[in-house]
Amino acid sequence: MSLTAQNHRILLNDGNDIPIIGIGTYSTPRITAKDTCYHAMKVAIDVGYRHFDGAWVYGNEAEIGKAIQEKIADGTVRRDDIYYCGKPGDVIYPQDENGKYLYHPTDLCATWEALEALKDAGLVKSIGVSNFNRRQLELILNKPGLKYKPAVNQVECHPYFTQPKLKEFCDSHGIVIVGYSPLGTCRDPIWVNTKIPALLDDPLLNSVAAKYKKTSAQVALRFQVQRNIVIIPKSFNQERIKQNFEIFDFSLTNEEMKLINALNRNERYVELLMWKDHPEYPFNDEY
Ligand code: A2P
Repeated sequence: MSLTAQNHRILLNDGNDIPIIGIGTYSTPRITAKDTCYHAMKVAIDVGYRHFDGAWVYGNEAEIGKAIQEKIADGTVRRDDIYYCGKPGDVIYPQDENGKYLYHPTDLCATWEALEALKDAGLVKSIGVSNFNRRQLELILNKPGLKYKPAVNQVECHPYFTQPKLKEFCDSHGIVIVGYSPLGTCRDPIWVNTKIPALLDDPLLNSVAAKYKKTSAQVALRFQVQRNIVIIPKSFNQERIKQNFEIFDFSLTNEEMKLINALNRNERYVELLMWKDHPEYPFNDEY
């Protein structure tokens, strides 16, 4: 398999394909100026990104839509070439008067059936899950009357959290892992476990980067590409958007892959502790 900047799509279990690099778009709305995302997405399309990872709760889907629409209109890109990942909802994080989160009682299998109906209605092409552990994946895979398997499981994944067991399980079921926080996140202490050192400062990643005249970010991203893990680095900065896409002109040796793999600490930057009391909180299980 030889992936290039022009052609880097990998196959999903439903026959569709997904660009192995997408651009992440979560940025704390309170500190992100209006239209920052819109301008960044136009840059990303010009650079060559065709996969956009968004969500209603990120508060900027309309900006991504506007950028894509304009780039289709000016002939830079075709609608068919765009892979957009969305995550639906209506009220954002409802809480009671004491600030306690109110959880929806619908079970995961019922939600999965609703997604299957969306696919059958032609409203989405591929359906997948996020933050699912093995038990939750098995719940769907073993659901009586299952029509479609999840195409992807979007979970935290990077050299400090390589997810070996979940990856092996997903591989055995043809489920592609989409790795979020592939650069170790923005380290906002409000939602990030900053006790873990910054990934991009890692000495090994930096020494490998120096060898190839690349950055530690590019080495972290390339490592995942060589493991067949889809990556969605977030950047709204022109230089870094470009830099993160320049990962198809070098490859890591088997020895380097092994060394980077050994950086795994089995610790998450994104623990979602505010939802630890949810009956389906996924991170109590080993994987
Ligand atoms: P910015 O948007 O200013 O570029 P992750 O994708 O792991 O969640 O990481 C996203 C964070 O990493 C953001 O704060 C983003 O900031 C920053 N970032 C993105 N690309 C790079 C890069 N190539 N080098 C260093 N930091 C980066």
